[in-house]
Amino acid sequence: MSNAQFIVVANRLPVDAVVDAEGNRTWRRSPGGLVTALEPVLQANRGTWIGWAGIAGAAPEPFESDGVTLLPVELSENEIHRYYEGFSNASLWPLYHDAVEPRVFRRSWWKSYYEVNERFAEVCAREAAPGAVVWIQDYQLQLVPGMLRERRPDLRIGFFLHIPFPPVELFMQLPHRMEILKGLLGADLVGFQRPLAAQNFLALTRHLLGYRPRGHYVTVDDRLVRADAFPISIDTAANEEVASTERVRQRAKEIRAELGEPETIFLGVDRLDYTKGIEVRLKAFRELLEDGRLEVPKAVMIQVATPSRERVDQYVALRERVEREVGRINGEYGVVGLPAVHYLHQSFDRYELAALYQAADVMAVTPLRDGMNLVAKEYVASQTDNRGALVLSEFAGAAGDLRQAFLVNPHDLTDLKDGFVTAATASADDRMKRMRAMRRYLRKHDVSRWARSFLTALGVPERSAAYNPGS
Ligand code: ADP
Ligand code: G6P
Repeated sequence: MSNAQFIVVANRLPVDAVVDAEGNRTWRRSPGGLVTALEPVLQANRGTWIGWAGIAGAAPEPFESDGVTLLPVELSENEIHRYYEGFSNASLWPLYHDAVEPRVFRRSWWKSYYEVNERFAEVCAREAAPGAVVWIQDYQLQLVPGMLRERRPDLRIGFFLHIPFPPVELFMQLPHRMEILKGLLGADLVGFQRPLAAQNFLALTRHLLGYRPRGHYVTVDDRLVRADAFPISIDTAANEEVASTERVRQRAKEIRAELGEPETIFLGVDRLDYTKGIEVRLKAFRELLEDGRLEVPKAVMIQVATPSRERVDQYVALRERVEREVGRINGEYGVVGLPAVHYLHQSFDRYELAALYQAADVMAVTPLRDGMNLVAKEYVASQTDNRGALVLSEFAGAAGDLRQAFLVNPHDLTDLKDGFVTAATASADDRMKRMRAMRRYLRKHDVSRWARSFLTALGVPERSAAYNPGS
C-alpha cells in the first residue's frame, strides 16, 4: 500500500503520450472538458492522477508534472478497441446523450470494459493510503467505485459523471445495466452535472433495485449513498488573465483583419462529436445565407473541430458529413480569398483559443445534448470587454448556469436561425448587460468552488491541507 492521500481516477491522464517514428516519446495535453476542469484542482492539491496515457501497450513509468503525480495504466490495442472505442464510446456515450446517434452493443465489449475497470480499481487499491479520498471520473469507469469498495472499504469514494445521466427508459436498454448501477452505488457520493440527472439516478435505484431513496440519499447495505448535482466550471480567473494579455488582444485584432473586418464573426469550438450539433449549426448558417438574412463577407463563420475518437465509425461518418457541408457552403457562398466557413480541424493552445473567443461576435454553442459544455463558459470569461454574444443550446448543462445567454433549441432549425440573428443584431448595451451578469456568475462559481463543494459533500474536511483545492 502506498501513501497517496488524494487520488483522481479518470480514463485519461491530463497528458497523452505521443511516440514518433524513431520511437521518441513526448507528451501533449489531452482533449476534453474533464481534463480542463480537473487539472487546476489537482495542481492545487498536489494529488495523484491515475489514468491511461493514450497509447497502446506497456504503461510509461509514473512521473510528476506540475506538482501532480501521474500514474499511467496500461491498455492493450484490443482494450482500446473494445473498452474505450466500443463500450465507452459506441454504447454508453450515445445512450447517455439521449441516443442522438444510435448506440451499438457488442457482447465482447462488455468483458473488456469489466476487465479494464478492474485494473483501474486494483491500481487505485494499491496506491491509496489508509482512509484516503478517491475521486473517480466519468462513464468509462462506472464499475470502479464498487470494485474499489470491495478491496478497500476504508476509503472515501466519490464518483462524478461529466456527461448526462439518461432517463430510466433509456438506461434500461443497456446490457449489464444492473452491474453498472451497482458499480456506481459503491461510491459514498455520486455527483452529476444537473439535478435532473441525480433524480434519474435515484429513480433508477427504485426501479431496478427496489430501493427507497429519501431526498438525495439511498441506503445500500446499511451505507448511505448520496446522489446530487455539482455543476462543473472553469478556472475563471486563469481564463480572464489569459484573455487580458496583450498577446491575445493583438492576435484577436489580427484574426478580424485577416477575415476582412467582417461585421459578424460566428464561432464554434467543439470536439468533432455528433452530440455538439455542428451539423445543425452549419445548416442554420447556410440557410441564413440562402434566405439573405446573412451575407458573406459581412458575416463569416469559424468552426474549430478538434479531432476526436477518430477510429469510431460514427465519428468517421460525422467528419465526412461536416466536411462535405463546409465544402458545399463555401462553394455556394464563398468569395475569392474569403470563404464563408473557416474550418479548422486542429488543436490550439490556450492563447490562440482565447484570441478566437475574443475575435468572435457570436459564439455558437449548440449541442443536441451536453453534460455541461465548458467552451460556453470559457467564451464568457474571455469577453473582458463584454462585447460578444453567446448563443447557447437549452440542452447543454451550461444553460442552467448561463441564464443570460441567447438560449435556443437546436432541434428546431427555425429557432436556431432566429437565435443567431437575434444575437448578431442585439444592441451593444443588451449584450453588455448579459455578458456582465454571466461573468459575475462565473467568477463566483468557478472550478475550485465546484471541487470544494463536491469534496465537502464527500466528507473531506474543508481545512484539510492534503485536499483543499484552490487554497
Ligand atoms: P467536451 O468535454 O465534450 O470536449 P467541453 O466544452 O466541456 O466539451 O470541453 C472542451 C474543452 O476542450 C475546453 O476546455 C476547450 O477549451 C478545449 N478545446 C476544444 N477545442 C479545442 C481545440 N481545438 N484546441 C484546444 N483545446 C480545445
Ligand atoms: C468528454 C468526456 C471525457 C473525455 C473527453 C475527451 O469530456 O466527458 O471523459 O475524456 O470528452 O474524450 P476522449 O475520448 O478523447 O477522452
